[in-house]
Amino acid sequence: MAESRIKILPDDLINKIAAGEVVERPASVVKELLENSIDAGATRISIEVSGAGGKLIRVSDNGSGLTGEEIPLALERHSTSKIGNLDDLFNIKTLGFRGEALPSIAGVSKIEILSCREGRGNQLQSEGGKTIKLETAGCPVGTTIIVKDLFFNTPARRKFLKSPAVELGHINDIVSKYVLACPGIAFELISEGKPLVKSTGSGKLSEAIMAVYGLGLMQELIEGQLEFKSGKVYGFISRPTLSRMDKSYENFFVNRRYVRNFLLNRALEEAYRTLIPGGRYPVAVLFIDIDPKLIDVNVHPTKREIKFQSTSEVMQAVSSMVTKTLSEIIEAVSWDKGVEAGSRDWKLDSKDQLPISSFEAGIPEIQVTSIQPFIPIYQYKQTYIISTDGKDLVLIDQHAAHERILYDKLSQKAEAIHSQPLLTPENLELGPQETAILQENVEYLKSLGFELEEFGSSSYLIRAVPALSIKSPAQQLLRDILAELSELGKTAQLEIKQENIRKLIACHSAIKAGDKLSIEEMNRLIRDLYATENPATCPHGRPTLIRLTEEEFKKRFGR
Ligand SMILES: Nc1ncnc2c1ncn2[C@@H]1O[C@H](COP(=O)(O)OP(=O)(O)O)[C@@H](O)[C@H]1O
Ligand SMILES: [Mg+2]
Repeated sequence: MAESRIKILPDDLINKIAAGEVVERPASVVKELLENSIDAGATRISIEVSGAGGKLIRVSDNGSGLTGEEIPLALERHSTSKIGNLDDLFNIKTLGFRGEALPSIAGVSKIEILSCREGRGNQLQSEGGKTIKLETAGCPVGTTIIVKDLFFNTPARRKFLKSPAVELGHINDIVSKYVLACPGIAFELISEGKPLVKSTGSGKLSEAIMAVYGLGLMQELIEGQLEFKSGKVYGFISRPTLSRMDKSYENFFVNRRYVRNFLLNRALEEAYRTLIPGGRYPVAVLFIDIDPKLIDVNVHPTKREIKFQSTSEVMQAVSSMVTKTLSEIIEAVSWDKGVEAGSRDWKLDSKDQLPISSFEAGIPEIQVTSIQPFIPIYQYKQTYIISTDGKDLVLIDQHAAHERILYDKLSQKAEAIHSQPLLTPENLELGPQETAILQENVEYLKSLGFELEEFGSSSYLIRAVPALSIKSPAQQLLRDILAELSELGKTAQLEIKQENIRKLIACHSAIKAGDKLSIEEMNRLIRDLYATENPATCPHGRPTLIRLTEEEFKKRFGR
């Protein structure tokens, strides 16, 4: 009989294979050791590395520690103190539970575990997963794990490592995520004796954010929270005036575990879509606390990804939380100032010219109110409205402001935008591609208020346009819409498509730089702008207004 070709693999080989999944690079070791220290209830964790972690990683904590019997067990495969049965697996409250990390790390390094529990200390040394020494040793309460010469016995792995700067960058990233996740723990990351990250452990999330991103960025964030059916979303998000070139500042923690889930990113970005310029991303440190039974954390070997039982519910919660928080500050900043200024009984005379120069009798007085938080003073270069609430000077970009107003109007009645007949219908000559796109979107264009009549094979008559006092010729607007529709193609989500078209119509209809405005028109613009949900930015995310405070003037005049 032929010898069986199928064999059970020896343990050391199994551990090396498992290490391939769990231990990709030095940063993965740091991650696993940190998670263990956090699970052990530590309040102080220090991480020291040299050779970007390839030579040495030392993680010390003041957590519960391990007994002399437990230390060798912890190095066994599938040994864990964190779960005992299947029910536990679906109700996980710790970061670890797979019992894979320590044996995997030990399999590909020289590891030393020094731990003290209940006053007795022990030390274990192992090389490539084989225990060399286990003896009693004096040490403070807690655990120190030293990992030396990572991948010393798997040279192929070693070759995959990037430059020390890149590897150290990964370590820095992972430590930073845990600083954010656990504001109650004092972390310290030291490389070649130099401190890289240090947090206070005060328990305040704002201090943890400062430790990672600095004071300047922290000051641009606002705090918010929202409860939803299965949990709570809370944390800090950026004001619309702050954005970044990439998504790496979008942090999500689910039950205090750092996770990556592009649907969460999408939900967050959704809420900022018309507030920050395209291609830029918000900053967020968001926590989602949810019943552990409603998530599955066992879908990825490094537990970086998780599954929600109801992803849409969580996405909705994130989006609503952000929208609500942003609308609160935008209102708070703008409305409050208006109301406050109004209550000081600040008055300004006005007529259809510069109010400042009009001191004749009988001119109606205008007062700052919550409905009209600023009074226009002067239209500068027929482009900007210089206005004031009696306290600050506010410069308004008339085009951006009007765009915001029209965009909101279009968004509110997306289904039924009124139509306005043209006095003289305009002729529209189209190429074959444009004709095809127009035909595909005839119903949609109708819902926007366009009335089109076929006039030969590639000609149309535009009889009516959206009732928004469109500034540019109707055929130009329609051509731009067709171009946009063709650009977006069939793949774009309907909602994004409609949003872009609304932006386009708003842009074509808004008053332009160079349009002269009367005082009454400026007043109406300000009132309408403040009736929108996001008066501070135009639909493309650019600011509609700039506020200059008295403090700034004082500073610049050296008062
Ligand atoms: N820093 C530590 N302090 C206390 N116990 C620890 C520490 N690190 C590891 N352990 C113990 O070792 C066990 C195995 O660790 P690990 O292989 O990471 O598996 P897991 O974290 O999935 O349980 C843990 O369940 C825990 O009991
Ligand atoms: Mg672990």
